[in-house]
Amino acid sequence: MSNYWTHKAVAISALLSALFLSAGATADTTDKERIESRNETFATAHPNQYKTWAATQDSEQIEDALAEDPNMVILWAGYGFAKDYNKARGHYYAVDDVRQTLRTGGPKDADSGPMPMACWSCKSPDVARLIDERGEDGYFAGKWARLGAEINNPIGCSDCHNTGSDDFKQGKPALALSRPYAERAMESINMKFEDQSRLGQQAQVCGQCHVEYYFTGPNKSVKFPWDKGTTVDEMESYYDAINFNDWVHGVSKAPMLKAQHPGYETWREGIHGKNNVTCIDCHMPKVQNEEGVVYTDHKVGNPFDRFEDTCANCHTQDKAALKAIVASRKAQVQEMKLRAEKQIVAAHFEAKAAWDAGATEADMQPILMDIRHAQWRWDYAIASHGVHMHAPEVALRVLGTAIDKASDARTKVVRLLATKGITDEIQLPDISTKLKAQQALGMDMEKLNAEKDDFLKTVIPEWDKQAEAREASYSN
Ligand code: HEC
Ligand code: HEC
Ligand code: HEC
Ligand code: HEC
Repeated sequence: MSNYWTHKAVAISALLSALFLSAGATADTTDKERIESRNETFATAHPNQYKTWAATQDSEQIEDALAEDPNMVILWAGYGFAKDYNKARGHYYAVDDVRQTLRTGGPKDADSGPMPMACWSCKSPDVARLIDERGEDGYFAGKWARLGAEINNPIGCSDCHNTGSDDFKQGKPALALSRPYAERAMESINMKFEDQSRLGQQAQVCGQCHVEYYFTGPNKSVKFPWDKGTTVDEMESYYDAINFNDWVHGVSKAPMLKAQHPGYETWREGIHGKNNVTCIDCHMPKVQNEEGVVYTDHKVGNPFDRFEDTCANCHTQDKAALKAIVASRKAQVQEMKLRAEKQIVAAHFEAKAAWDAGATEADMQPILMDIRHAQWRWDYAIASHGVHMHAPEVALRVLGTAIDKASDARTKVVRLLATKGITDEIQLPDISTKLKAQQALGMDMEKLNAEKDDFLKTVIPEWDKQAEAREASYSN
């Protein structure tokens, strides 16, 4: 016992000194103007925008998506999302949430932990600052814990604005893409930011993060898979052509793709996107304060909470009527989601049974490709948060094709099983709750939770302390 504690104390002090050393190298020594990542420094100059931005902390509820739908644990078997996956909440919590999720693990030093630096990319204006200071490679290289002490401010002003510009100082929007990889992606679909109308630029600032992306190259940098276009079919064909997979499935061994959240892509395909109604019209409307000053409400959240300033600007139906339409579309998407899941989950276990019965790589290849495509399509639809509002017909079509691909896989695998003399239905384990599904996969949740608790208790306070010291050293 005493041995354990001694080892632990030594490990922690080694870790802390490593963290302190890395902090020393990052002092504010450049002449170049630093990108301002501290959101509170804009409170005085832009009080209306600041106050409404800060109000994104009202959306604090954490919803456990895996507990709601344990099928997803199986679908993501062997991948971080099977550990834990919460629904999105307010921008204000982005840094807290990426620190707290089991997916980022409990790294003990700068070089350990499951995730790369890229996992910070959509969480903080410090990412814009770091890329500006160190270049993209200087930011992306290494593991997620490497620059943990550098990234402490949640999604804010410098993510969407050129906050150093005179225009911004005078209260104009000065919208800007703060991520060079997003800038390149927009160019790849012939939508260079500078060439867009004001509305196009508004949507693109959200499209820096609410998009599909993957990690590539030696530094696991972010890239959007848009070289062939942004539909589900075009991105699928892109990923197939470069032979990319995010992970190998823990049950079926299929080479899988994880869709992120292609909200920008699906919005473009929907009726509002096609009519140039942007994210801002619904999520950040223009409003008036008591003195009659018109400003952009920065409390990005559910547009139904401010119906008069959003939908009612363009529609004559009342709130209840439009809410009912959106709710019925949500129910339709949800139904097709569950139907697709049922088929894909079964296909994973049937593929496993075929492997267990001695199937060869060659036997399995076409089946695994069908599973890959089925699940990619399912994920593209459901990971586009709000898709039932933004583009329900796209979601329903994509989910329909997911079911089609899954049924192709199942037809093939059932034939293959028959050649091995297996004709009985393949039994699924009990996956009726999140924990049971995780246990069915042999995941040690106690260990993962303990590592995370330890990380939150020991490493995070150090990161916060260093961040505070660094910011205190800024000369302006
Ligand atoms: C997620 C993106 C995003 C973030 C974060 C954000 N803004 Fe904005 N901001 C916008 C958009 C979009 C507009 C409206 C642009 C337009 O009207 O074309 C805007 C408009 C503005 C304007 C112009 C005046 C107005 O109200 O329309 C100011 C000033 C401003 N924001 C300040 C801030 C400050 C200060 C912060 C941080 C506390 C911030 N913004 C954070 C996207 C953002
Ligand atoms: C820098 C990356 C980034 C940018 C830019 C960004 N978002 Fe987000 N957004 C996120 C992340 C990450 C979350 C989830 C935060 C969490 O759950 O901790 C999120 C959450 C949301 C939510 C859920 C909020 C809630 O209360 O449930 C909405 C809606 C949203 N974003 C819309 C937008 C819109 C509209 C824009 C453009 C004006 C935008 N976002 C720009 C990264 C970004
Ligand atoms: C025509 C209005 C409209 C437009 C345009 C729009 N949204 Fe939404 N969005 C909504 C509504 C309404 C909801 C909530 C649906 C519900 O209540 O079921 C929503 C939901 C979301 C969510 C999910 C929030 C959550 O907590 O699950 C995100 C994220 C989001 N929108 C981002 C965006 C982005 C990014 C864009 C632009 C690319 C955009 N929206 C364009 C109306 C819109
Ligand atoms: C800036 C204007 C604008 C805003 C804001 C707006 N819409 Fe729309 N909406 C449109 C336009 C344009 C269409 C295209 C059809 C048409 O001509 O009416 C449309 C179509 C629709 C449709 C029918 C299309 C279909 O898919 O069948 C629904 C439902 C809808 N909007 C709901 C909403 C809701 C809910 C909100 C608020 C969250 C909202 N809209 C906000 C402009 C807007």
